[in-house]
Amino acid sequence: MPVVVLDEAEIAADTARALVAGGIRVIELTLRTPAALEAIRRIAAEVPDIVVGAGTVLTPEHAEQAADAGAAFLVTPGSTDTLLAALAGTGLPALPGAATVSEAMRLAERGIDTLKFFPAEASGGVAALKAIGGPLPGLRFCPTGGITVATAPDYLALANVACVGGSWLTPKDALAARDFARIETLAKEASALAR
Ligand code: 3PG
Repeated sequence: MPVVVLDEAEIAADTARALVAGGIRVIELTLRTPAALEAIRRIAAEVPDIVVGAGTVLTPEHAEQAADAGAAFLVTPGSTDTLLAALAGTGLPALPGAATVSEAMRLAERGIDTLKFFPAEASGGVAALKAIGGPLPGLRFCPTGGITVATAPDYLALANVACVGGSWLTPKDALAARDFARIETLAKEASALAR
């Protein structure tokens, strides 16, 4: 899943189309730039072949704004009680973040069984996820943070990994140069990793 940081909403639809051309069907648009909500709006309206979600959802306001903009799902880097209540309030599917066993257990207590594992590499990477799968086999993770096309297969080989995410599919320089052909190539490489 591409984790996309867009400075310009104007290139949102073309970026999404390049990802679709490369075989990608889901995009996480992070709420890290002023352009993010408008980018979500445009992708939701103009690129029906991709499911657009909002990432870096940190506050209840973010959750509401993303839902209003047309986000189909919400992703958070970590989880607080306030944020979890707001996610549930939107009625949208959500991927709340956890980085430790205790955080994962707290989410599991709420009935949440699919989590973002962030920051993946800094939190122990493949070895950590494998170890977490011992006591918590019912949980599935989408690791992100420091993952590359080279390391993604090791994550995807784990039974408790549902997908991997990262910004490597939409590099900042490619976006700035509007190099959609490169984004399509990166998307093709990433799609080929799918199990
Ligand atoms: C995220 O929010 O998931 C991460 O910032 C993505 O991490 P990456 O830029 O290291 O891929």
